Amino acid sequence: MTTPTDFNDRMLSLGLARVSEAAAMASARLIGHGDEKAADQAAVNAMRDQLNKLDIQGVVVIGEGERDEAPMLYIGEEVGNGQGPAVDIALDPLEGTTLTAKDMPNALTVIAMGPRGSMLHAPDVYMDKLAIGPGYREGVVTMDMTPSERVSALAAAKGCSTGNITVCVLERPRHETMIDQLRATGCAIRLITDGDVAGVIHCAEADITGIDMYMGEGGAPEGVLAAAALKCMGGQMYGKLLFRNDDERGRAQKAGITNLDRVYTRDDMVTQDVIFAATGVTDGSIVPGIKREVGYLTAETLLMRSKTGSVRRMSYRNPTR
Ligand code: FBP
Repeated sequence: MTTPTDFNDRMLSLGLARVSEAAAMASARLIGHGDEKAADQAAVNAMRDQLNKLDIQGVVVIGEGERDEAPMLYIGEEVGNGQGPAVDIALDPLEGTTLTAKDMPNALTVIAMGPRGSMLHAPDVYMDKLAIGPGYREGVVTMDMTPSERVSALAAAKGCSTGNITVCVLERPRHETMIDQLRATGCAIRLITDGDVAGVIHCAEADITGIDMYMGEGGAPEGVLAAAALKCMGGQMYGKLLFRNDDERGRAQKAGITNLDRVYTRDDMVTQDVIFAATGVTDGSIVPGIKREVGYLTAETLLMRSKTGSVRRMSYRNPTR
């Protein structure tokens, strides 16, 4: 028997899908219009609006930024109508603002929710990430390994040659050395220009996406969101926060992080069962993007619960007014 203040993930998940859908629908009219900020703002407004309708006492732990930088959905903002369970919320109303502005694949709206205290309060710094999908023994690839050792270990575990492994990497100058090392193994590399939450999620459905492993440096907040997704879909993930200066170290300390060198596993980043929703904004291999027809918008949402491992794909068509 559940009480109104229990984290009733089953019921809340459907509300979470609405939140994610609303953000994607709102940014739809800005796909391909070259204005990242406007697309993000539309998604933020819609997501916040819908979140505040949910029966939760929510706190944003991964959000749009620190309170002084982001007026809405900032870290620490209380959301929900205050009448349900105390929950942590990690969100990115538009993951891939540039992808949306340029109408390039894999822009998503993303949100995860878990009981209060269930998610790492990652500061807005970079994180070194490593992820693989389900079905491998724990620790088959590690942060201690070189990129080429990871490819060899994964190929051995998969029972294939290194040439049959595909690694997803953000295309950035900081990854040039890593990319050279990966190339030397003969593996394939899927370079993405943005959107490493989708990059990590791709590993969980390798048969569909063709991606076996994700590695490289991206946003730490996105790392926690990706960990929440993999907790639902299965798969391993590691993340290590990276600091470029004292300001960034200070942000981590402010967020309560004392060991700045810690390597977090998926379950260190997300310690309890969570629910996760992502809606496609532009087309991607995980979810299709918003479909625009005269008079209608259709959004496709991936909705998952880690407790059950359930994956629901929902299609929502709404008239445009
Ligand atoms: P935005 O949606 O905020 O534009 O972030 C997109 C993104 O590509 C993330 O997926 C990734 O973690 C991060 O930016 C990488 O940061 P940078 O562009 O500084 O390399």
